[in-house]
Amino acid sequence: MDLEKIPRTLDTRDLHLRPSNPTDAAGMFAMLSDPESMKYWSDKPIKDLDAAVEVLNKDLESDIGSCPIDDDVGEILRKVIAADGIILSSPVHNGFITGLMTVFFERMAWRLCRPTGRIMTFRGAPESRSKKARALATIVSAGSMPTKLGEKYCNDGTPFMKQNGCLILNADWVGSVYAGGEFSKKLQGDDWQRAYFFKELSEQQIKQAHDLGLKMAEKINADSLRPLHPFGRLGPFLDTVTGWFIRE
Ligand SMILES: Cc1cc2nc3c(=O)[nH]c(=O)nc-3n(C[C@H](O)[C@H](O)[C@H](O)COP(=O)(O)O)c2cc1C
Repeated sequence: MDLEKIPRTLDTRDLHLRPSNPTDAAGMFAMLSDPESMKYWSDKPIKDLDAAVEVLNKDLESDIGSCPIDDDVGEILRKVIAADGIILSSPVHNGFITGLMTVFFERMAWRLCRPTGRIMTFRGAPESRSKKARALATIVSAGSMPTKLGEKYCNDGTPFMKQNGCLILNADWVGSVYAGGEFSKKLQGDDWQRAYFFKELSEQQIKQAHDLGLKMAEKINADSLRPLHPFGRLGPFLDTVTGWFIRE
């Protein structure tokens, strides 16, 4: 389906529907500032005309789409959009990242992306709204699964954050750290039940995290960020081809 071919106006006997334009600000202000009409709305009444202009501009043109949930995610996303590099970090919960982190991905996806028909909607994350290239790295920490064994069975979170994160954030992949369970003593018998008390970050894990930060800084400074595409170098070509089919 070609979004550009969809009629932009609709006329019926009682209704004239057209895209908004700047002359609508006064009318928007009258509606959005009225406490009675905003009584059951997701946002509080706005206070001035500038806020109405912001509402008008914010949806299609903005790098961050609007959301009826009025919480701190908007502020976090503004920082994410301004950042050159992003490090996402989560503990392992049941072999994956936390529920909170997956919710954050859900909240990011549809505010930082929009469907355009140019890129297939991979993994529920369509085309990134902001064209700025960013660097992305991830750190996953585990409780009792040692690094070697745990990475195989408890690190499904890293590929998830890599693939979805790069699409949503228009990011180049810098790398990851899996900080599995390292213990201050050799665990025996009942020690395993209290394994968390003996868990510590190893020198090697701290060095890995440090090196990852350095690599990220170098990539950003060298201006050599190339956002990751799920199909690698063939990606842009495939986007064009799938675009033809989706649009027809
Ligand atoms: C609900 C829950 C599930 C967890 N699942 C795992 C797991 O599957 N594998 C693992 O190694 N650690 C697991 N952990 C331990 C966390 O990964 C660990 O607490 C986390 O990495 C934080 O480490 P820290 O307490 O040293 O900061 C789990 C913790 C919780 C609370």
